This record gives sequence, C-alpha cells and structure tokens, in this order.
Amino acid sequence: MTKELPRREFLKTTAGIVALPLLQTTAFAGARESLRVGLIGCGGRGTGAAMQAIQADPGVVLWSMGDLFADRLASSLAGIQEYFADRLQVPPSRQHVGFEAFQNVISEVDVVLLATPPVFRPQHLAAAVDAGKHVFCEKPVAVDAPGVRSVLATAKRAKEKGLSLASGFCWRAAFGYRAIYKRILEESGIGDVRHVYATYLAGGVWFKERKPDWTDLEYQLRNWYYYTNFSGDHIVEQAIHSVDKLLWAKNDALPIHATAMGGRQVRTDSKYGNIYDHFGVVYEWEDGTQGHLQTRQQDGCHSENLDRIIGADGIAWIDGWANRFEIKGARPWKYEGPVNNMYQTEHDDLFASIRAGAAMNQGVKMAHSTLAAIMGRMSAYTGKRIHWQQALESQQNLTPDSWQFGPGIEVEVAVPGKTAFL
Ligand SMILES: NC(=O)c1ccc[n+]([C@@H]2O[C@H](COP(=O)([O-])OP(=O)(O)OC[C@H]3O[C@@H](n4cnc5c(N)ncnc54)[C@H](O)[C@@H]3O)[C@@H](O)[C@H]2O)c1
Repeated sequence: MTKELPRREFLKTTAGIVALPLLQTTAFAGARESLRVGLIGCGGRGTGAAMQAIQADPGVVLWSMGDLFADRLASSLAGIQEYFADRLQVPPSRQHVGFEAFQNVISEVDVVLLATPPVFRPQHLAAAVDAGKHVFCEKPVAVDAPGVRSVLATAKRAKEKGLSLASGFCWRAAFGYRAIYKRILEESGIGDVRHVYATYLAGGVWFKERKPDWTDLEYQLRNWYYYTNFSGDHIVEQAIHSVDKLLWAKNDALPIHATAMGGRQVRTDSKYGNIYDHFGVVYEWEDGTQGHLQTRQQDGCHSENLDRIIGADGIAWIDGWANRFEIKGARPWKYEGPVNNMYQTEHDDLFASIRAGAAMNQGVKMAHSTLAAIMGRMSAYTGKRIHWQQALESQQNLTPDSWQFGPGIEVEVAVPGKTAFL
C-alpha cells in the first residue's frame, strides 16, 4: 500500500500532487502508457528525484535502480517503498551495483534520472542519450572543461533525437524566481541590468567515517564532496545555483572572464580532501556589467542565499530561502503568487514535455552555468584571470581514465600563484 507522506515532507516534495497507485492512475490517464523510470545514484537527491518523478505523471513506474554501493541503493529503495510502494517495480534483478550499474539501468527504462556525484555525469548522460532515453540531469553536469564539452555535444545529440533533457537547476522552476526574472528580462522591471550580486553562505557538509573494509578509493568516493575531481569543489557543487542565477539575470549571456580568490581557512584537515571553504568571484560581461559571487562553507558563520540585481531604475531583492521576491525603485513590485515545490515542478515540466512529444532541452544552459562555476574555481585556484574561451578549451581532465576500487586519487590543494592553469 502507498503510505501518505508526513505533512512537512508532503509539502516539501509533492507540491500538492497526490500519489496514486499505478492501476488507479492508469485508468485515470485513459490511454496513457506507463513510463519506466530508472534512477542512477540513489543518494539523498536521487531518492527525492525518483519520488518527484512518480508524482509528476500517473503512468510513471520506478523500474530500475543503480548505485555504486548496495547499502545506498537499499536505503533509497526502502525510503521510496514506504511512500510509493504501488509505483515501485524494482525486483532484485533490476537493482544494479557498481561502476557499470548505469549501463544496465539505461538499457531497462524510458527515462533516466542522473544523480550521482558530478564527476560521472558526462559519461552517464552520453550513455543515456545515445541509448535514446529522456533524461533528468542533476547539476552540476561536469567537474572540468572536457566534461562540459562532452555535455554540450550530448545535448546537441539529444536535440537531434527529440529527447527531453531537463536540468536540476531547480531555482529556474521556482514560481517566485520565474516571475521576478520575467519582470526584469521581459517587462523592464528595473530597466537595464547594470550589476548582479549573489551570495551562497552556508555551513559545512556531511563526512563519512572510514570503515575497515573500504579501499582508499571507496573512502574518497563515499566522501566525494571533499575532492575537486569528484565534486568540482563547493563553488561548482553548491554555489553553482547562484552562478546560474547570475547568468540568468544577464539573459544567459556568457561572461567574458572571471577573476576570483578563495582558500581553505577552517576546513584544513586532510579528511576534507582538497576543496576550498570560501570563494569570491567577479564575472564580467561584454557590456561592462559585473557579477559578484561570494560563497562560503564554514560553520558558525552568518548564512544567506541572496540575489541582488541592480538595474538602471530599480533593484531586485531576492531571498530564495525565504521566498521573498521584490523590486524597489521606480516601479515597485512584489511577488505575491503561490509558492511551489521547485523540485516537483522540474519533474512536472519534464514529464509533460515527454507526454506532449515536445522535447525540452536545457542542455546548453546547464553546461554553460557549469562552465561559469568551473571558470571561477580555475581563477581562484591559479590566481589568474580566466577568460571564457580559455576555460572552455582547458585540457585539465579531472576524471580518472578508468574506475576500479583500489588506490585513491592524488590529493593536492591548489595554491594561487603557483597552481598552473592547464
Ligand atoms: N538541485 C539541487 O538542489 C541538489 C541538491 C542536492 C544535491 N544535488 C546534486 O545531486 C547529486 C547527488 O547529490 P546527493 O546529495 O544526492 O549525494 P549523495 O552522496 O547522497 O548521493 C550520491 C549517490 O550516488 C552514488 N554513486 C556514486 N558514484 C556512482 C556511480 N558511478 N554510479 C552510480 N551511483 C553512484 C553514491 O553511492 C550515492 O548513493 C550531486 O550532483 C549534487 O550536486 C542537487
């Protein structure tokens, strides 16, 4: 039986769409066929995405799952089972574990949800699109420029094949954000955009204590967040949402260069791999506009996630966490519409596009926002100003050539002024 989500969780994950058992919903959907969905990367986000996919379309069945680790897959399965047992059809034969699990999942389904650590995304996305599958692709979509170039090429193939490719840049699905950006970009709500400022100030993240049977690589992959090779660093993994919103405020024009700084002030222990704990980036566009990003992951400090868009005759004040969207200036405005669950809306849009046969493709934008974040990291790590084309053509390949459990990757902390741009 499908159990009801607790109210808090329900609001967080469903945006008011009630989960119905498959048989019932197939009848409700008339001639609609079921859509088999496969989840690759069964962690926190992947489990949430699977539940949102289920609630987005009455014909969705979770059909196949893949994870690097059996324990992660099992706990995700148990979590989904608790709420959506009637929409789960994942027998042991369709539970895949290991580095090649993604291939099995892709071969068994119509729609693939990609939610592993970012380093695997270009490879998994290419495999899904080459197999002709629609995709929900979590952000970031790569950790390095070769990955971004691969994703751009894959997005093109998805377009040619008429496949839907939805990204996990969830703020673009938040109704308040959609309304205020429309007001700014289409209705001249603040006049010409002259400056953009974004902050992502947060605390530290989880850490998994080592178990005796883990190899070095397993230990690192279980703690993927702390390794630039696997996560891209926190500017690419987390603050990328703010980078994406900076680009959105400039109507997705590409910045010409980034000048950044950053370092590890409090997260200095080797258990924190090689990522930094703070970055400051100045992006610049062709028209002279600058975009400032400040991001931090340090415990015990002030937290906020704000956007300020300064225009010729107004300022947009945005506090995404508090759902506050306001314009001050010549034409004051305030968002008073509904607050939606952006994660749910992402999936509603994706499955509606699949049902309508009108493929959506967010591939280029998600690749560009990812590269902009990587460009900021490159500048901070090297201490150099990095231009867009330089970043795009970078030959630095952070992805191991092959994957097998054993020795870990080399871990070196970047030193501005010494670390070379590759
Ligand atoms: N849009 C958002 O707001 C948002 C929020 C959280 C996370 N994310 C993104 O979602 C992704 C996953 O984050 P998470 O918080 O769920 O992390 P997580 O560690 O909870 O989950 C990742 C899962 O992937 C599995 N995995 C690792 N390598 C794999 C491989 N090669 N094949 C299959 N499975 C593999 C891990 O074992 C783990 O279960 C990240 O890219 C993260 O940036 C996005």
